[in-house]
Amino acid sequence: MHLLWRRNVFDLFFSLFLIYLECNSITGVKIIGHDASVKKGGNITLSCHLTETEENLTHIVWQKQTRENPKQETFLIIDKDGKTEHKNDLLDKVKFIGNIKEKNGSVQLLGMTLMDDGIYTCIFIFPSGKNQTNINVTVLVPPVGNVTGKTHVSGPFNIILASCVASNGRPAAEVFWRLGALNDSLRTETSYTEQTDGSVTAVSHILGAPSKDLNQKKIQCVVKHSTLTKELELDYIINVHYPPELVVISPDDPTQTQEYLCSVNCNPTPTSYIWIKVNGSTPRSEGNKLFIPKSSSDFNGVYICTASNLYGSASGFLYVNNTVFICAVLWISLAYIFEQWWKNASCSTLK
Ligand SMILES: *[C@@H]1O[C@H](CO)[C@@H](O)[C@H](O)[C@H]1NC(C)=O
Ligand SMILES: *[C@@H]1O[C@H](CO)[C@@H](O)[C@H](O)[C@H]1NC(C)=O
Ligand SMILES: *[C@@H]1O[C@H](CO)[C@@H](O)[C@H](O)[C@H]1NC(C)=O
Ligand SMILES: *[C@@H]1O[C@H](CO)[C@@H](O)[C@H](O)[C@H]1NC(C)=O
Ligand SMILES: *[C@@H]1O[C@H](CO)[C@@H](O)[C@H](O)[C@H]1NC(C)=O
Ligand SMILES: *[C@@H]1O[C@H](CO)[C@@H](O)[C@H](O)[C@H]1NC(C)=O
Ligand SMILES: *[C@@H]1O[C@H](CO)[C@@H](O)[C@H](O)[C@H]1NC(C)=O
Ligand SMILES: *[C@@H]1O[C@H](CO)[C@@H](O)[C@H](O)[C@H]1NC(C)=O
Repeated sequence: MHLLWRRNVFDLFFSLFLIYLECNSITGVKIIGHDASVKKGGNITLSCHLTETEENLTHIVWQKQTRENPKQETFLIIDKDGKTEHKNDLLDKVKFIGNIKEKNGSVQLLGMTLMDDGIYTCIFIFPSGKNQTNINVTVLVPPVGNVTGKTHVSGPFNIILASCVASNGRPAAEVFWRLGALNDSLRTETSYTEQTDGSVTAVSHILGAPSKDLNQKKIQCVVKHSTLTKELELDYIINVHYPPELVVISPDDPTQTQEYLCSVNCNPTPTSYIWIKVNGSTPRSEGNKLFIPKSSSDFNGVYICTASNLYGSASGFLYVNNTVFICAVLWISLAYIFEQWWKNASCSTLK
């Protein structure tokens, strides 16, 4: 009750006083005041200094119009002896650091929040009138950057491939993508949403058709803001799922058994490989490997590898013709016949 009464008298007195002074502005004086900005949670000094007057001050008054209270309100009064009177709830938030004798009205505001963002007015009051200046105070909030995206299935239609978010920055952060070689094939779309507290969330979507060529391509989102000493670089790797496309069967290192590999272009890697021999029994295989003994022409024929993932399947062919083995057998036989013939011939000559 007492506080309320005191507060009302405080406001009323100065309102009347200032209205009275309105008609008695001093001319020829100069107020030095500077707009200022501060990071959320930080302290800020509002400089306000009067020059070029010999007159003594009777009071210095500070008023503000903030996000918290858009109505102009008086929050600090300094009398000619330097005694301060605070609006009750601001005792530990506002410090007078100037000097009324030196016509220095500077104050320090502590622990600034977005609610304190606004226009502050410094008023010098003389016996004969007043003079004042406005100081814009901007509370800055560093944005929080994040890139999100999911795995897409390849397709012909444009969709959002990934999104870069710079949340709750004040003022709005600058968000853009570095696409490198993909600059021409992808598009970006940026939007801003103002939050109730005055901060802004900026979102930049990257759009394009999820083709398999985009799979594993690296792009980068960049967030710039006055509160960040250097720009925030957020890497993102595009992930596109697509069915098997090209199946190639190629020989591995030849050993005792000939080993063939089924190589497939797809994402994710195949969940199954099926090997068959055309018009033949099931060949010996293990995953993407096929084993064909080198030593026999029984294994000659056409082999098919069918690789599948979640999105489809594709096949590749291998034609095996172990003629090397046949030739070798033939050569050994000929050598034997020749040796026999030579032996016989020598024997008959000797005889
Ligand atoms: C205050 O001082 C300025 C010069 O700095 C002057 O132009 C102005 O008329 C004075 N009065 C008010 C009410 O601003
Ligand atoms: C703000 O000022 C208070 C009191 O002087 C001090 O404790 C605090 O560390 C200051 N904060 C910053 C961010 O400088
Ligand atoms: C201002 O105050 C000082 C003493 O505090 C006095 O000497 C001086 O005459 C005053 N100036 C005016 C213009 O009233
Ligand atoms: C006013 O006071 C503040 C705080 O003491 C000081 O930093 C500033 O330099 C003073 N301004 C002038 C013009 O003397
Ligand atoms: C201060 O704020 C007022 C009101 O928002 C605006 O009109 C003015 O341009 C601002 N001044 C500066 C220097 O930013
Ligand atoms: C980014 O956003 C995702 C999804 O909203 C969340 O799971 C992740 O923790 C965020 N990362 C950072 C660094 O904020
Ligand atoms: C990317 O493309 C846009 C227009 O599509 C162009 O303005 C910009 O300079 C390009 N950036 C690079 C790095 O090639
Ligand atoms: C498989 O057998 C069919 C009919 O018996 C025949 O027409 C076809 O040519 C054979 N294919 C191969 C690769 O041997």
